[in-house]
Amino acid sequence: MEIRSTTDEDFDVFVDTLHAAFGLVRETPGEDGGGVWWSAIERDRNLLALAPGGKPIGTAGAYSFELTLPGEAVVPVSGVTAVGVLPTHRRQGVLSALMRRQLADLRERGEILSVLLASEALIYRRFGYGPATYTTRMTVQRQRAAFAPRRPLGAADDTRPGSVELLRRAECGAVLEAVYDRYRLAQPGALTRPHRWWELGAGRPPVARTPRYVALHRDADGTPDGYASYAVDAGTLTVDEIVATDDAVFADLARYALGHDLVTRVVFEQVPRDHPLRHRLADFRAGDVSHDTDWLWVRLLDVPRALAARAWTTDGELVLDVDDPFLGERTAYLLTVRDGKADCTTTDRGPDLSLDVSDLGSLYLGGTTPSTLVRAGHIRAHHPAAARRADALFHTDRPPHCLSWF
Ligand SMILES: CC(C)(COP(=O)(O)OP(=O)(O)OC[C@H]1O[C@@H](n2cnc3c(N)ncnc32)[C@H](O)[C@@H]1OP(=O)(O)O)[C@@H](O)C(=O)NCCC(=O)NCCS
Repeated sequence: MEIRSTTDEDFDVFVDTLHAAFGLVRETPGEDGGGVWWSAIERDRNLLALAPGGKPIGTAGAYSFELTLPGEAVVPVSGVTAVGVLPTHRRQGVLSALMRRQLADLRERGEILSVLLASEALIYRRFGYGPATYTTRMTVQRQRAAFAPRRPLGAADDTRPGSVELLRRAECGAVLEAVYDRYRLAQPGALTRPHRWWELGAGRPPVARTPRYVALHRDADGTPDGYASYAVDAGTLTVDEIVATDDAVFADLARYALGHDLVTRVVFEQVPRDHPLRHRLADFRAGDVSHDTDWLWVRLLDVPRALAARAWTTDGELVLDVDDPFLGERTAYLLTVRDGKADCTTTDRGPDLSLDVSDLGSLYLGGTTPSTLVRAGHIRAHHPAAARRADALFHTDRPPHCLSWF
């Protein structure tokens, strides 16, 4: 088997191979390669696997994104995408070969982290990726959607004078892009979105062809500070995302959706776990949370640089014995945090925790606690205080969340 980078000439072959891997029929062969989603693909970052004889059998690609880390540091990352192997050639190591080549390429680019969304949760752990952000769906029946009165009595009302303007999503890319950028720079786990998507599809590739409306929220000065994107179908209003620069704006947009006439229920997609929206409802049980699932998976490519890149809220020291079986590496690192900054070096000291690099990916953004993975039997704590100390160290003020689909 051969793995090679693609050129512009084999872009069609790449797209056809990926479609076949997913069992999809390409609608417009030879045109722009499938519409908005393909319009931002970086053709020089695609890999093709070829069987002996030259038949294309597998694909993998990568976007160049920026990821916001705890502490609002922003780093370049690769967003792995377009992964597929023909049904005729599965379970013969094709993906493993593509992943090995891709990880080597990413390290050569000097990247410290790689991220992806997994079609199935069993695929990527073996390649060093761990689930790092989570998402839920919240469904609210409109007749139970009243907001709770503010408590304690006399507390300041956090709704501020503002306005909502109704737009069609496909027509307002530029204004949404600016709002999204403000949001994502403050939200750990958030990724940049390709400019091309804002121009063509207002930020997200059209996974559903239903036209969407946008409720654009402006502050008292008229500056856009949030939006909800939604569609109404058969009495259900589905909000595919709320992008808000703070919780009060989020609440205003949720109230807008819940106030929509001729709708019996509102489905909020992509809501972070433990989101305050549920507590805003007078009837807590009216916020029915389902589809709690992993979203962004993270892979550390350079452990010391990745750990030094994010901010930390607690001082302390931890020795991490990190196993990376796919790359055949096992190293003990001393992580020292002082005044919010980490230094990470290799060490001979005995470990506090032994863990797989995929587990470190899960801890990295603060979305999974070390003690959860100790209790799950993934991470080995070498003494009773180790998990507690690691929990304090990895804790972040704001839980990570990712709204991107790629
Ligand atoms: C997922 C996919 C790319 C895997 O490709 P592949 O070439 O069969 O993978 P490999 O042969 O390299 O598998 C490596 C290991 O992962 C396991 N594995 C791969 N895909 C798996 C899956 N979907 N579920 C469970 N295990 C899986 C294999 O069993 C193998 O395990 P082993 O080393 O213990 O034998 C392929 O099945 C596919 O194209 N699926 C449809 C499209 C898709 O879901 N793409 C991923 C998008 S995120």
